[in-house]
Amino acid sequence: MATSRPSGRTFPADFVFGSATASYQIEGAVHEGGRGPSIWDTFSHTPGKVLDGDTGDVAADHYHRVAEDVALMKDLGLEAYRFSVAWPRIQPTGTGEPLAEGLAFYSDLVDRLIAAGIKPVVTLYHWDLPQALEDGGGWSNRETAYAFAEYARIVARALGDRVHTWSTINEPWCAAFLGYASGVHAPGVADDERALKAAHHLNLAHGLAATAIREELSEETTISITLNLHIFAPETDSPEDVEAFRRVETIGNEVFLQPLLEGRYPADLFADTAHVTDWSFVQEGDLEAIKVPIDLLGLNYYDDAVVRHGVAPTGDGAPGPDGHKTSPQIPWVGADEVEWVHRPGPRTAMEWGIHPDGLTRMLVELSARYPGQALAITENGAAFYDEVVDGRVHDQDRLDYLHDHIDAVGAAIEAGADVRGYFVWSLMDNFEWAYGYDRRFGVIHVDYPTGTRTVKDSARWYAEVIRTRSVVPPTVA
Ligand code: FCB
Repeated sequence: MATSRPSGRTFPADFVFGSATASYQIEGAVHEGGRGPSIWDTFSHTPGKVLDGDTGDVAADHYHRVAEDVALMKDLGLEAYRFSVAWPRIQPTGTGEPLAEGLAFYSDLVDRLIAAGIKPVVTLYHWDLPQALEDGGGWSNRETAYAFAEYARIVARALGDRVHTWSTINEPWCAAFLGYASGVHAPGVADDERALKAAHHLNLAHGLAATAIREELSEETTISITLNLHIFAPETDSPEDVEAFRRVETIGNEVFLQPLLEGRYPADLFADTAHVTDWSFVQEGDLEAIKVPIDLLGLNYYDDAVVRHGVAPTGDGAPGPDGHKTSPQIPWVGADEVEWVHRPGPRTAMEWGIHPDGLTRMLVELSARYPGQALAITENGAAFYDEVVDGRVHDQDRLDYLHDHIDAVGAAIEAGADVRGYFVWSLMDNFEWAYGYDRRFGVIHVDYPTGTRTVKDSARWYAEVIRTRSVVPPTVA
């Protein structure tokens, strides 16, 4: 891939460069420390749900390799590490007394990070819902939001003396719509009404948890949520294309942005989904509970998209044009007449295109829309099919991708966006949900049979970016 921008842009002194992972994707050790089953254990062990029948049972074996992994982070000079806590390690069935062993695992990780000079950034929910809660209705049951707030309080109490940046939920869009509408992610449900309830209850869970953390910890604590906003553009300005665009914007972005940051649901969301539900599950006081001030809005960005009037993508599990695995039912509730435009150009192993300009646009537009709202890129990265050759991984494609996207963040800052940090997805190769171990996102290679880690060229390059605080040329020695 040709790099399109001049390199050399520099970053503010207090800008944070980090890397991100998630519990189920790296930890393994699913039966250790009293951990209960999560929806991803159930889903991945259900034949046909995950490519090649892969599961997170062992994953990158991070649970047993914490010392080695933190040492690698230190070598790279990471300033922050965003990881998630597995709810079923803390409360095996999602409610009740916390497990000391589960809390101790994360407490030890936090201590090691701090000793290595790396700031811990904790995500409380990165999709591994305790299975027992799913058996009671999961995110479509309002009770799950209350249970989540209690769990958040427990973890804040245990780690809050050392952890000062918290994210409640990672990508509620995926949890709600891939989990409950298209069913390509756990719990694998295809029920539009349950998906819309899940979206609301995830919003509510965020608000209740943010309040619980704030009650436990000081005002200084940074509280955030991470969204995967979809950066759409209509193919033409025809009324049909503009309507297609409006529909996916509504169910892709506004369903979270407006309640979280403006304290309301958009009227057209109710209109677009009136055939599914009357939204009477939104109770009095919920929107006030959801719109608690957040100190940081986390954003995950991989690619943008162009849409037009047409037929929404269904299928039998092949990668879809919208970036998600296809199924007979679409995740875009109320947006059936929308088609994703195929654009020429390079693609990653996820079949995703490479459009760093969309990242700049997202940051600049959000900063203009919500002045004063600090932003961070909590995930950005690319999957490619890497190989270890003579102890090195020459992942030039990923290196170019990171170069152009980090530069795109710099461009947004220069254009006035308030961006505080950038986290590469991912620190190491891991269980990429429905695609299992086939798609490698790490800047550190993991040989799954042995667990051996190999630092890829992209990580060496990123270390230079961190060291110099500038977008150095996309090469390594
Ligand atoms: C995001 C997820 C993350 C990872 C990347 C590739 O949607 O938050 O866990 O799978 O995509």
